[in-house]
Amino acid sequence: MAFDIINYLRAKRELVDRALDTLLPDGGESQARLLESMRYSVLAGGKRLRPILALAAGEAVGADPEKVMPAACAIEMIHTYSLIHDDLPSMDDDALRRGIPTNHRVFGESTAILAGDALLSDAFGMLVAEGLRRGVSARMICEIVSDIAEAAGSRGMTEGQAMDLALTLAGTKDVTLPQVERMHALKTGAMIRVSVTAGARIGGADENQLEKLASYADAVGLAYQIIDDILDIEGEGDLGKERGNDERHGKSTYPGLAGIEESKRKASELTRKAVGILEGFDHRAEALRQIALYLGCRNH
Ligand code: IPE
Ligand code: IPE
Ligand code: MG
Ligand code: MG
Ligand code: MG
Repeated sequence: MAFDIINYLRAKRELVDRALDTLLPDGGESQARLLESMRYSVLAGGKRLRPILALAAGEAVGADPEKVMPAACAIEMIHTYSLIHDDLPSMDDDALRRGIPTNHRVFGESTAILAGDALLSDAFGMLVAEGLRRGVSARMICEIVSDIAEAAGSRGMTEGQAMDLALTLAGTKDVTLPQVERMHALKTGAMIRVSVTAGARIGGADENQLEKLASYADAVGLAYQIIDDILDIEGEGDLGKERGNDERHGKSTYPGLAGIEESKRKASELTRKAVGILEGFDHRAEALRQIALYLGCRNH
């Protein structure tokens, strides 16, 4: 039977949504407003691409999905923190995210900053505690924590966000395409790469498989941000966020430098490359193949 990617994504998204609801802190002694603002952004929906990639990469090498889920949810918590901070007035100054007002518009800037801080720290705490509870070895958890910390930190997503700001200041005319590709690989690619490698590691992937899956993820990650840039210009689906802000803020984007047609060509080339890299994998990698193809022609 043909693989139904729409149903696959829906089913996994529901699983991830339920797990996040359970694994996020609620109540206790903590500040109610802080917890409310964290849950507001995490549970607002979102495509859940990164956790789904972690589950699909685990599936490709026979992982127990229950053991992948804490890492998948930790990555989504970190991703959500990055979005809350990305939307702040001092960053992209956006009003809408995941179809609802941005965190700082509802809770104020200071609470939005703290919600991001707490999501980042809580993600690691939850990953360790819940991973151990589900029988992931302490050694494996250390490897995953180290990989995620690197992907999120000053040599990963955060570096990419800093580069985004620096390139915006530099002005679009002085920026080169390789610089934009590097920024995209860091701000978006790094977390997508670690989603795939974390899922695969937990499934016991060997070094050769990990290397291939990391290259798959790099291609998907760059295509993902290029398409995000294209959608900001001419998206027609419901993005859940405002369009046109990249240009308004003078952002350096892939279509801004290479043009829309070349950007679309590049995204298709990367999609084909991603699928090609999976050639040595068996039927269990079908979800990863289909995800790459689906993302290659997404309209939201
Ligand atoms: C938005 O990420 C930021 C980018 C890296 C393009 P997503 O497009 O995955 O946003 P959500 O998680 O679905 O809201
Ligand atoms: C954001 O890129 C990437 C991260 C949050 C790390 P964008 O600024 O293009 O994301 P959107 O368009 O606001 O979702
Ligand atoms: Mg940004
Ligand atoms: Mg933004
Ligand atoms: Mg964008």
